[in-house]
Amino acid sequence: MTDPASEDRKDTMVESAAGQAQTPADAKRGPAVATRERRQGAANPSGETPYLVVEDLTVKFPTADGLVSAVNGLSYSVPLGRTLAIVGESGSGKSVSSMAVMGLHDPKRTKITGSIRLGGDEIVGLPENELMKVRGDAVAMVFQDPQSSLHPLYTVGNQIVEAYRVHHQVSKDVAKKRALEMLDLVGIPNPQRRFSQYPHEFSGGMRQRAMIAMGLVNDPKLVIADEPTTALDVTVQAQILDLLNNLQKEFGSAIVLITHDLGVVAEMADDVLVMYAGRCVEYGTAEDVLARPRMPYTWGLLESIPTVSAANERLRPIKGLPPSLLNLPTGCSFNPRCPYKDRVKGERCTTDLPELLPVDGAGAHTSRCHLHDKASIYEAEVAPRLG
Ligand SMILES: Nc1ncnc2c1ncn2[C@@H]1O[C@H](COP(=O)(O)OP(=O)(O)OP(=O)(O)O)[C@@H](O)[C@H]1O
Ligand code: SF4
Ligand SMILES: [Mg+2]
Repeated sequence: MTDPASEDRKDTMVESAAGQAQTPADAKRGPAVATRERRQGAANPSGETPYLVVEDLTVKFPTADGLVSAVNGLSYSVPLGRTLAIVGESGSGKSVSSMAVMGLHDPKRTKITGSIRLGGDEIVGLPENELMKVRGDAVAMVFQDPQSSLHPLYTVGNQIVEAYRVHHQVSKDVAKKRALEMLDLVGIPNPQRRFSQYPHEFSGGMRQRAMIAMGLVNDPKLVIADEPTTALDVTVQAQILDLLNNLQKEFGSAIVLITHDLGVVAEMADDVLVMYAGRCVEYGTAEDVLARPRMPYTWGLLESIPTVSAANERLRPIKGLPPSLLNLPTGCSFNPRCPYKDRVKGERCTTDLPELLPVDGAGAHTSRCHLHDKASIYEAEVAPRLG
């Protein structure tokens, strides 16, 4: 991963990142800042060697209304056996960034820059046939809605068999044995009978299990789960999360879990990345981000979780709406909604994009905010409200 050729490529990317700045404030950041931010994202908060490394990823969609900047300079990394949760409001770029990792964007309609490496192999810019080779059976995606991912006219068993045979030259009998093992492993009772049924004969939870069986049949090194439990009731949700946890122990995969639900994050994540308007605004271990958050947007997300003790109190949703990605605010993208911006001297919140910097001046926990006294504001004002 540190060969001279890849170092050359990184330097080129820094220039291109600086050249593609969105706002005057972005432009002020310059290559040095971009380099620092990329390195911080590439170093996993655990210090372990990552399997997936995303550096300075930018995804834009040219549309009739203008260029939609869905992802702006995103960097993170995930080692095998570790789970990264990506959280943020609707439209913050969680799915778009993950689809880039899967190589699922239409290259004709999407501009992607930056770097995505799987086990050291770069996938950004590869033509589809080479992308298939690098990605191969290494990555699987579990979507929110298994109904739309499972084909209604094929039996569940045959879909798992075909998913296996795409990457393994084996007979149908061997693939069927593997499919039955997977159905059993994901907790589907009576796999022999279920193998021959169609998706509509499965309950929502069973379909989600079948999706996971199909995703994991090739023993992927990386699993991207995009809101895998949102459509399910709470009990089934807990079972599916347990299942993902257990399968991770069995297969040792890296997991990127996309979710709105901070309860799920607390349960599942080793690391957490908070996204706002296409950018990472806070990143660190789950313990750091959930117990010592250092960014007003993360505080807002935590304050908007319903808790049992606060059952009779009003929830505190974050006021206002996320900005248009066609026209991001100058300065900090969160400034139109931020209740703390008056605590920052001068107009910096509305003129300068904050860098993603270590919250304690060093270390792997980073946040993007100009406030100087984040720790004391959190302890004195936010933590008591969280109870
Ligand atoms: N093909 C496209 N063309 C133009 N804009 C797009 C396209 N795909 C996504 N977007 C926009 O990119 C932004 C980010 O979308 P994305 O689906 O990543 O959000 P998300 O964080 O996953 O939200 P949710 O929680 O609702 O799933 C949205 O504003 C979306 O409208
Ligand atoms: S930089 Fe300013 S506007 Fe942005 S989160 Fe910090 S205080 Fe709020
Ligand atoms: Mg999404």
